Amino acid sequence: MTQRGFTPLDRLLMDAQNGLDTVFGSPRAERPSPGADRPDIVLDDAERRHAAGLMRVNHVGEVCAQALYVGQAAVARDERTRAQLLAAAQEETDHLAWCADRLRELDSRPSLLNPMWYAGSYAIGVLAGLRGDGWNLGFVVETERQVEAHLDEHLQTLPEADARSRAILATMKADEARHADNAQAQGARRLPPPVPTLMATASKLMKTIAYRI
Ligand SMILES: [Fe+2]
Ligand SMILES: [Fe+2]
Repeated sequence: MTQRGFTPLDRLLMDAQNGLDTVFGSPRAERPSPGADRPDIVLDDAERRHAAGLMRVNHVGEVCAQALYVGQAAVARDERTRAQLLAAAQEETDHLAWCADRLRELDSRPSLLNPMWYAGSYAIGVLAGLRGDGWNLGFVVETERQVEAHLDEHLQTLPEADARSRAILATMKADEARHADNAQAQGARRLPPPVPTLMATASKLMKTIAYRI
């Protein structure tokens, strides 16, 4: 969807709506969950808690992705960049919904700090976007590559029996790689140091907290 013709106030209101839906609503996936046709094997308590901790981290990651892309799109200069950011955000909505469903199946809940994660990521997205579209796209590439690496880690540490979570993460990983490739092809800039390191540090902090809260 292009936002051509909307005033800055319209956009701000739409972003606020997206934020409320992401944090307090039940966003709907456009694609069925990749885990839906896998057997729902009963995990022992320790395994279930660990899987839930990891899926909560992934859910927060998707809350952050929504907020980043919507924040970046809000200040993107080029309509194509904006449209691409919003298209990626739609796929992140699928990821968000799949992770939320899986958390419920694991008898758990999303992070209580989601409003804070959303607000912080939106602010970072706006700041990145204000640097111009090359930076905006560079930020997408770096975010998606870091998420891809982190999903790999989770695929290694998830309980072997948790086929449903595994299927979800494998599809997310393929989507994130495509988001990065698309942004690269559209003229992403390579982010200068220390930006990638700062991003990795922030996400490490988020992962540590979100595993528990
Ligand atoms: Fe995602
Ligand atoms: Fe993504």
